[in-house]
Amino acid sequence: KRIAVLASGRGSNFQAVIDAIAAGEIPAICVGLVTDNPRAYAIERAKAAGIPVTVVEYARFPTRAAYEDALLAAMRNCRADLFVLAGYMRILGTGIVHEFAGRMMNIHPALLPAFTGLHAQRQAIEYGVKVAGCTVHLVDEGTDTGPIVIQRCVPVLPDDDESTLADRILVEEHAALPLAVKLFCEGRLEVSGRRVRVR
Ligand code: GRF
Repeated sequence: KRIAVLASGRGSNFQAVIDAIAAGEIPAICVGLVTDNPRAYAIERAKAAGIPVTVVEYARFPTRAAYEDALLAAMRNCRADLFVLAGYMRILGTGIVHEFAGRMMNIHPALLPAFTGLHAQRQAIEYGVKVAGCTVHLVDEGTDTGPIVIQRCVPVLPDDDESTLADRILVEEHAALPLAVKLFCEGRLEVSGRRVRVR
C-alpha cells in the first residue's frame, strides 16, 4: 500500500511509522509528507528517509478555501491508499474528509471520546482522571470523533504534570499508530458504523 503522512511539528509519530516500515512490519511505502509548517522537524525526518515533502502553509493563501484546495491537490498528488494524521494541527475541511473517507486516520493523545481537541493531556490532568492514553481513529467530519481503531492506556500518577503524562502517553502512541497503519495496510480493518473490527 501507499501511505502519506500529514504532520505539523516534531513528527515523532511519523518517525515511528517510518521505522516500522523500514523494519518490514508494515507492508507499505511512505510516498509523501504533507505539512502546513515549513519549520516542522518532521520535514528533516522525511528528508532523512527519502520521503518527498510538500509544504502547504496556511498563511500563504488568501482564503481558507484556497488553502483547502491546495492541500487537497497535494494530497491527491500523493496517490495514497491511506493518509495518516500524525500531529497535524489543522482541522480538515469537509471536502477533504469526504474524499478520503475510510482511508484517513488520526492519532489523538487521549482515551476518546474524552478530551477532544487541543491540550488533551492537560485536560486529563485537570479533570483528575486516573487513567489516560491514546486513540487511533478514522477521521470523520468532527474533531476527534471518528470510529476508533486502537486505544492504549497509561496510569496518571499523583505527581504527573502535563508534560510527564504526555511523555508516558507518547510511548503508547508510538506503538499504537504503526500498528493501526499495519492493520489497515493488511486489509484487516472492518468498519461497520462506528465499530471497527480487526480481522
Ligand atoms: C502527539 O501527541 C499526537 O497525538 C498529537 O500531536 C502530537 C504530535 O507529536 N496529535 P509528534 O509530532 O508525532 O511528535
